[in-house]
Formats: sequence, C-alpha cells, structure tokens
Amino acid sequence: MRVTLSLLHLCRTLPYIGLVLCGDGCVSSVLALGASIICSKMAGLAPRQRAFCQIRPDAMVAIGTGARIGTEECQHQFQHSRWNCSALGEKTLFGQELNIGCREMAFSYAILSAGIAYAIISACNHGNLTDCGCDQEKIGYYDKGKGWRWGGCSADVAHGIRFSQEFVDAREVKRNARTLMNLHNNHVGRQMLEKNVRLECKCHGVSGSCTLKTCWVTLPNFREIGFVLKERYEQAVMVEAVRGRRQMQAAFLKLKTTHGYRKPAATDLVYIDRSPSFCEEEPATGSLGTQGRMCNRTSPQADNCELMCCGRGYNTFQYTHVWQCDCKFHWCCRVTCSTCTEQIHAYTCN
Ligand SMILES: *[C@@H]1O[C@H](CO)[C@@H](O)[C@H](O)[C@H]1NC(C)=O
Ligand SMILES: *[C@@H]1O[C@H](CO)[C@@H](O)[C@H](O)[C@H]1NC(C)=O
Ligand SMILES: *[C@@H]1O[C@H](CO)[C@@H](O)[C@H](O)[C@H]1NC(C)=O
Repeated sequence: MRVTLSLLHLCRTLPYIGLVLCGDGCVSSVLALGASIICSKMAGLAPRQRAFCQIRPDAMVAIGTGARIGTEECQHQFQHSRWNCSALGEKTLFGQELNIGCREMAFSYAILSAGIAYAIISACNHGNLTDCGCDQEKIGYYDKGKGWRWGGCSADVAHGIRFSQEFVDAREVKRNARTLMNLHNNHVGRQMLEKNVRLECKCHGVSGSCTLKTCWVTLPNFREIGFVLKERYEQAVMVEAVRGRRQMQAAFLKLKTTHGYRKPAATDLVYIDRSPSFCEEEPATGSLGTQGRMCNRTSPQADNCELMCCGRGYNTFQYTHVWQCDCKFHWCCRVTCSTCTEQIHAYTCN
C-alpha cells in the first residue's frame, strides 16, 4: 500500500481538471488502487466529475490521455508566444490556469475538451472501453445518395463528444459569465473535432475497378485540430454576459462590441477579459512572464527577442551542436558517416 501510494504521489496531477497525468504504467498502478481511492485523491475534480470517476474508472485513463494530448498540442501551438501553456499540466499551487477569462483560456478549454473527446473516440475504436466500439450506425449498409457502402470500423464520434461533454462540462456548476464562457469554448473545441473527422475509402473489384467502394470515418491527426483551434483563437470575440429578465444569474453571452443582442457564433472562441501582456510575472492574472525564455533575434514573429523579452534585453550564449552527416551506404552492408558540428548562438530573455 505504501508503495502504491507513493507512486500516486509521483504522478503529476493536472490541476486544470484535476486528472492524474502520468505514464501508462503509473496510470495502471493508480487504477489498481481501486476507484474510490483514486477518485478521492484526484485533485480538483468537481463533485459530479468525482461521481463520474467512481462509475467509470476505466474511462479515466482515456480522459488523462486526452488531457495530455490537449496540453501538449497547446504547448506546440504556443511554443513561440509569450504565453506558452506552461501552467497547464503543471503541479503548481497557484496560477495553474490564468485567473482571468482571456482568449488564452478560451483556447485551453477548447483544446482540452477536444483532446478528451479525441482520446475517448480512439479508445473506443481500439476496443479499450467496455461500452463503446465502432459506430453502430455506420456498419454495412449501402448509402444510396453517396454510392458506397459503410465498411470497416467507423470512429464513434458522437459518443466521444457526448462523453467529453458530460465529463468536462460537469465542472461548470455556477452560472456566471466565466462559466458560460467556458461552456461555450468547450463546445467549440468538440465541434471543431467533429467537423474535421475524415472519411477513408477503399475500392474493391477487379484490378481496382471500384465496382464496390466501402468507406469509414477516422480521426484526423490531433495536430490538425490544434491548427484549426489556433485560427479560432486568433479570431476570438469578446463577449459579456446578459442576465435573464427577473433573474439574478447570467443567462447568455452577447458580443461586447455591438449594441444589439447578437450572440457569438457557435464556432467562435469567446473571452470576457482582455489578455495581459504576459511580459512579467503577475500573480493577479497568473502570467509567468518571459524571463529566461528562448528567443530568436531574426524571427519576424512573436519569438523575436524584442517582442518576447518586452524590450528588457536578452542574454547570448553559444553551444556546439553535433550530429552525424554525409552518411554513405557501402555495398554491402555498411554505413559510414562523418561528424558535423555547428556553433549555435542562442538567446534568452532578461
Ligand atoms: C488501448 O489499450 C492498450 C493496452 O492497455 C494501450 O496500449 C493503448 O495505448 C490503448 N489505445 C488507446 C487508443 O486508448
Ligand atoms: C514556458 O514559459 C515558462 C515561463 O516563461 C518556462 O518556465 C517554461 O519552460 C516554458 N515552457 C516551454 C514548454 O517552453
Ligand atoms: C530564427 O528565425 C529565423 C527566421 O524566421 C529562422 O530562419 C531560424 O531558423 C530561427 N532560428 C532558430 C534557432 O529557431
């Protein structure tokens, strides 16, 4: 018991939704502890999520995987920006997520919600979960309109989306501007996944004549979802909450710029607070600042040293990059390479 508990302690927790994030071996050991212990140990689960965890401990592995996929994609998409998703997935006591409802948080919520749906769909597709598999509505029948037959194992997209919704949205208990914002962005994330699934087809018949064609639904590479959501992030819209008549609670979101009651589109990421500059460390917003970040002197983009370091200047250091190069294949069977070296200048923000 001691051993397993210390293993649990080793696992990194993701305070964002309070999931255990660790290697597969670690997840299995945690699962072996029994659902009630795991679920009570997971930091930051909302009561409904904890109940969900008790009923479906098997799905928690996929949920943890999904959160990791989402976090890693966020870090990839923002690697050259001042805000780099660093706080997601980190075991920090404060500032795990930004404290304000800015567009960076809109992206985080959307990518995590999409990541969890994605991981659930793949787990179902691989037969890893007990209650799902291939999409039962897309098996065997001939689609007259399309001229082909559903074959293979179609990803059960609708199931994964429902699942992610049930789990991820369960965290938004109160009803205020921030929770409406989170729910909207969670939905955008899942929707972008749904819109970007692929159809794969295969021809059957003599020498590829395609007398019979079968098709099935597959998931795209998650990187594509990252790019699509990054685009939504760039076009995110500012909103504010409107109270219902005779109600104290926020009822819906409307665009902040227009005078009427125009609602944001279902595909718009939305935010309620302007982003800080992310230049300095700022407990009030949760910004970590850019001190120590790598930058690029010649880049025209956000990782340019002037922009990244906010005019504070930067340090230069040199290191030698060594790699194998000019590899030649000798018949038979030997490969010889030379060693190449290059002096690299690197820069970090003051
Ligand atoms: C399915 O389960 C196996 C064995 O636990 C694991 O190695 C694999 O990564 C899982 N695949 C998915 C997509 O969840
Ligand atoms: C992101 O930025 C923080 C603080 O500026 C830094 O400590 C961290 O190493 C960065 N993370 C990545 C993945 O670059
Ligand atoms: C810096 O930016 C330039 C221009 O975008 C690019 O060609 C170069 O590879 C970058 N250097 C590093 C170390 O990323």
